[in-house]
Amino acid sequence: MPYSPAPTRYDSPSLYRRCGRSGLKLPALSLGLWHNFGGVDVYENSRALVLRAFDLGITHFDLANNYGPPPGSAEENFGKMLRADLSAHRDELIISTKAGYTMWPGPYGDWGSRKYLLSSLDQSLRRLGLSYVDIFYSHRPDPHTPLEETMGALAHAVRSGKALYVGLSNYNAEQTARAAQILRDLGTPCLIHQPKYHLFERWIENGLTKVLSDEGIGCIPFCPLAQGLLTNRYLDGIPSDARAAKAHGFLKAGQITPAVLAKVQKLNVLAQARGQTLAQMALTWVLRQPVITSALIGASKVAQIEDNLAALKHPSLSAEELTAIETIVAQ
Ligand SMILES: NC(=O)c1ccc[n+]([C@@H]2O[C@H](COP(=O)([O-])OP(=O)(O)OC[C@H]3O[C@@H](n4cnc5c(N)ncnc54)[C@H](OP(=O)(O)O)[C@@H]3O)[C@@H](O)[C@H]2O)c1
Repeated sequence: MPYSPAPTRYDSPSLYRRCGRSGLKLPALSLGLWHNFGGVDVYENSRALVLRAFDLGITHFDLANNYGPPPGSAEENFGKMLRADLSAHRDELIISTKAGYTMWPGPYGDWGSRKYLLSSLDQSLRRLGLSYVDIFYSHRPDPHTPLEETMGALAHAVRSGKALYVGLSNYNAEQTARAAQILRDLGTPCLIHQPKYHLFERWIENGLTKVLSDEGIGCIPFCPLAQGLLTNRYLDGIPSDARAAKAHGFLKAGQITPAVLAKVQKLNVLAQARGQTLAQMALTWVLRQPVITSALIGASKVAQIEDNLAALKHPSLSAEELTAIETIVAQ
């Protein structure tokens, strides 16, 4: 069936939040294509997820060179959707990709050299069928490459017209401050930082969020639902279609311990008392700070995207609720 986007997709202007001190707004929820969009997945389901997200006003789709499996296949699949369904809407989309993890054999297919980053960006653009991406990230800091070289490659990507903005992912507070300074000096300010952040993973609170606020850099936390742990997915065991049941899934059954589940059960009771699902409460929590621009979710079902977006309709967490959450998490 030919796709025609919902005319109502921009009916909630409050969905969009300014990314740091930039001119760019991102939806409060963005969709990541790490799992469920690869060559091993059912293309029609991946397509339904992307198109439903777009119909609901989600304009930002996050990729990386290595998303699949096999690596590269999520970009290929998304490229197919761009050509088949979204070609008339390129200017409504913020598409990001990254380079930093192992992508091809030999010394030039990994980490943070100029050689790797710029070759990888060219490969990503070919797979996506695009002439530019909106955001190009250094996926992780490289301890063996001068930061000036990695940042220089990002700035070059923008100067050459292959990216509009640049971002950092998995850089600590000190690395981020240094990188931001270099990028500013190169005339390509850092737009955004992508760190792991959820109720059980709090490292960004110890310095990074302050650097981001001070520098005017947006923040788009990944795995806000702890890969599905902070949802109702595992309350009654591991469903056969869940990430933790898949051989290629990054959430392993061994991570779903009785101690974690006990916290999840208690958080679920708290969410129910608020009239929210646990996923919705986890997202309300991540989005509570002004420094957070967007929560970068994943999904395997259209209903999950709908459930997550409904989180934005609920009131923010009260001081009492925040304390109750902290008490459970600290147990
Ligand atoms: N920069 C980096 O280093 C890095 C690393 C990791 C991820 N990321 C980015 O972050 C994105 C999101 O990561 P993630 O997929 O781990 O995020 P997540 O939102 O924490 O987890 C997504 C998973 O949670 C489950 N889920 C989502 N909504 C649900 C709901 N309402 N009810 C029940 N279950 C629900 C689904 O699991 P099932 O599939 O089991 O249904 C879904 O696949 C990635 O796609 C990628 O773009 C970046």
